[in-house]
Amino acid sequence: MKGIILAGGTGSRLYPLTLVASKQLQLVYDKPMVYYPFTTLIEGGIREICLISTPADLPRFKQLLGDGSRFGVKFDYREQAKPAGLAQAFLIADSFIGQDPVTLILGDNIFYGGDIFTRVFGDFKAGATIFAYHVNDPERYGVVEFDAAGKVLSIEEKPKVPKSNYAIPGLYIFDNEAIRIARGLQPSARGELEITDVIRDYLRREALRVHRLSRGFTWLDAGTSSSLHDASAYVQTINNRAGIKIGCAEEAAFQQGFISLPRLEEIIRQMPDCEYRDYLEQKVVAEAKRLPG
Ligand code: G1P
Repeated sequence: MKGIILAGGTGSRLYPLTLVASKQLQLVYDKPMVYYPFTTLIEGGIREICLISTPADLPRFKQLLGDGSRFGVKFDYREQAKPAGLAQAFLIADSFIGQDPVTLILGDNIFYGGDIFTRVFGDFKAGATIFAYHVNDPERYGVVEFDAAGKVLSIEEKPKVPKSNYAIPGLYIFDNEAIRIARGLQPSARGELEITDVIRDYLRREALRVHRLSRGFTWLDAGTSSSLHDASAYVQTINNRAGIKIGCAEEAAFQQGFISLPRLEEIIRQMPDCEYRDYLEQKVVAEAKRLPG
């Protein structure tokens, strides 16, 4: 399974901050936004990752994440010259994807709770798998409509009158057909290659699975000032209450066995004195040493 993090766009809703740094590099409590979706991919066991961003922002992502070896993964970077829709990711990254299935995650989506993605990635064979999450404002998202038996009836992008409260989060798993489908797409009325059009192709062919994320699961997007603030407050609450960091990529890489304990300790030694370092030293490393194996 390959992974794509889409971190493009102009971030106009976060202006003026986005004049100097991309949306996905903004701070969500104690780390850059992109750490959260990156950590979700690591937790799912994905080690080959393509990050797509604008020509102006790509160097900054490279500065932040490097070649990925710090996390035991391999990064490939590709440019999206103009924001022409999420489905364009498959065209930009086609040679990276090769013949493999691919998970696309949006750089401003934050997921927390349970191991559903790990299980779903592990079970994935073919077709497309997406998720549905109950929200208050479905008109802001792709929306999935179910019948009483839970069968999917329709998929719509940002409908004015949503047919349900189930939004489609920005994490999608596709087999290799996604590239072929994306090649045949026409831009929508807003001029974008829509991910919902790719999903609808799978729905038509009865190759779509939709998992409803349970109430205990948290999905946040951080694309507006207000949702960015909410996301930071949520991450801080868990941090302070449970002493657990959401989106700590080094911790996830260690838990997945992508990096060894000595390598983690070496990476920590290169960090400046900060709370992030203290967490890795005093919680992650200390716990690993207390509970060997
Ligand atoms: C995109 C997708 C939408 C999805 C959302 C999740 O919207 O088009 O279907 O529900 O991401 O964050 P956008 O971020 O372009 O508003």
